[in-house]
Amino acid sequence: MTKRKIQMLWLGGFATITTLFLTSMVSVSAAPAKKAAAKKTDTMQIVRGAKAWKNNCSRCHNLRSPKELTDAEWDTSVAHMRVRANLAKADAEDIVAFLKASN
Ligand code: HEC
Repeated sequence: MTKRKIQMLWLGGFATITTLFLTSMVSVSAAPAKKAAAKKTDTMQIVRGAKAWKNNCSRCHNLRSPKELTDAEWDTSVAHMRVRANLAKADAEDIVAFLKASN
């Protein structure tokens, strides 16, 4: 192997390592920000859901405790109650998020 070939190989390896290192730096620094944003949205949705639940779900009967049903049962129940209560899709989704976070 000539000196020049060895030099090229070394440069190639160095470039690969640098790329890998930079890529991992970017994903590590982006991850916490993404997580925080997702959590913030969820919290806001649960807060909206709690309000919508209190305002809408006690109109016809006493408020049912979130603990009464499982996540899957709330999906079914709120789909059923959404029709009765004439709720917007977004409100029903917020209510389900609140109920699932509280059961
Ligand atoms: C327009 C009146 C009305 C509103 C508003 C309403 N419900 Fe109901 N709900 C009923 C009636 C009537 C029943 C009993 C008969 C039935 O199941 O349809 C019932 C039954 C239930 C039950 C018992 C089991 C089931 O799923 O059928 C649950 C739990 C319930 N409602 C939760 C809710 C929640 C959560 C909301 C808010 C998203 C809500 N309800 C809003 C009328 C209403």
